[in-house]
Amino acid sequence: MTDRDDDSLLRGRFSEPTDDFVARFTASVGFDRRLYRYDIAGSIAHARMLARIGVLTEGERDAIVGGLETIRAEIESDEFEWSDALEDIHMHIEARLTELVGEAGKKLHTGRSRNDQVATDIRLYLRDESDAIADHLTGVMARIVDLAERHSADPMPGFTHLQIAQPVTFGHHMLAWFEMAYRDRERFQACRARLNVSPLGSAALAGTTFRIDRADTAEALGFDRIAENSLDAVSDRDFAIEFCSCAAIAATHLSRWCEEMVIWTSQPFGFVELPDAFCTGSSIMPQKKNPDVPELVRGKTGRIVGNLTSLLVLMKGQPLAYNRDNQEDKEPLFDTVDTLKDCLRAIGDIVAAMRPDTARMREAARLGFATATDLADYLVKKGLPFRDAHEAVGRAVQYAQEKGSALSDLSVSELRGFAEDIGEDVADVLSLEGSLAARDQPGGTAPNQVAAAAKEARERIGSG
Ligand code: ARG
Repeated sequence: MTDRDDDSLLRGRFSEPTDDFVARFTASVGFDRRLYRYDIAGSIAHARMLARIGVLTEGERDAIVGGLETIRAEIESDEFEWSDALEDIHMHIEARLTELVGEAGKKLHTGRSRNDQVATDIRLYLRDESDAIADHLTGVMARIVDLAERHSADPMPGFTHLQIAQPVTFGHHMLAWFEMAYRDRERFQACRARLNVSPLGSAALAGTTFRIDRADTAEALGFDRIAENSLDAVSDRDFAIEFCSCAAIAATHLSRWCEEMVIWTSQPFGFVELPDAFCTGSSIMPQKKNPDVPELVRGKTGRIVGNLTSLLVLMKGQPLAYNRDNQEDKEPLFDTVDTLKDCLRAIGDIVAAMRPDTARMREAARLGFATATDLADYLVKKGLPFRDAHEAVGRAVQYAQEKGSALSDLSVSELRGFAEDIGEDVADVLSLEGSLAARDQPGGTAPNQVAAAAKEARERIGSG
């Protein structure tokens, strides 16, 4: 940041220069410079429209558009000079434009305000980022489906309360992740559709006295329509809050998956192994292979949720219309975008490299009495009331546990001691394969259902 003491652009009515501390305190250029592309696109659309309505000559318009393109190139090649004295990205671009093209540059701000300008910039930015995040989610979903297809029939224990509950297939478990990611993508798509509305022309708060053409700038910038109310358009940031809320929900899903990966990679579970490149060692314990990447995704979720809270609190006390508080919307937003994209990248890579230990998962399912419900259902089908069946199976589980064996290891005569209706056909019911195959309903864990659901999931990826 250089000392360019050029804050004269806005200070016509003041007799003293800005205090140094105040200049630093109020400056946003340190972070909002990242909006430069959108700011320039908005200015080009505005300048073209001003020429169309006769506020600028064609020569002025061409000078302005050329100047703005030069500025974009300067910023991208790191030749642009930044200064706290110029407050924000909008002032920087306008000041430089006037340096480059003279008088015409001073006309660009006709019929607009930084208030509608910044609202436009953020909407354009979030539109792109919603698309980018939806693409990331699409990539993650495709990798999840790969795994689900490969393991549509491989049993693992399904859990409730993190206690072994009933067998499921690994593919079925993966498709649960898929559904969460799918809804996350839908949420970003819906958020994008709602935010793709043009505030330009709202000016400071009340609209403008110039006969501007709002539909023209909206169309040039790819907005679906113009914002209906100028006070609302310059002041509300609900679209940013909504974006952060989509991000917080998506990150919460990622955090849950990561929690599972942390559990699954621990030695007592050993369900999956992560590639070495995604783990770190310990400085003291030579045997360690720590799942740092999933842990960090879980940890970064805190920031993303916190950013949502920041924006909600930022908004809650603001009277209409624009208030400078809104300048504080950017850092949480940028942090949310950066963090979520990194987390999605990490998850995509992990899912692609994740190799489940199918033998280990099968063993865990076998040892956890996961087919106890199947035995109870079997007895009900033989005519026992469900409560009695539940109790009889409970006693059988206790017996097997004391003996140190799985339910399927007990002989039919041992099992008959708990319920006399048990016959030779019980073996099918107690096996993992039998248990899985029996849940043959849409949304259930039977391998044929999972294979069909994976196929359908693959089709849905492309149709969102
Ligand atoms: N830097 C400001 C922001 O981010 C731009 C708008 C400033 N408007 C104003 N009237 N001070 O919100």
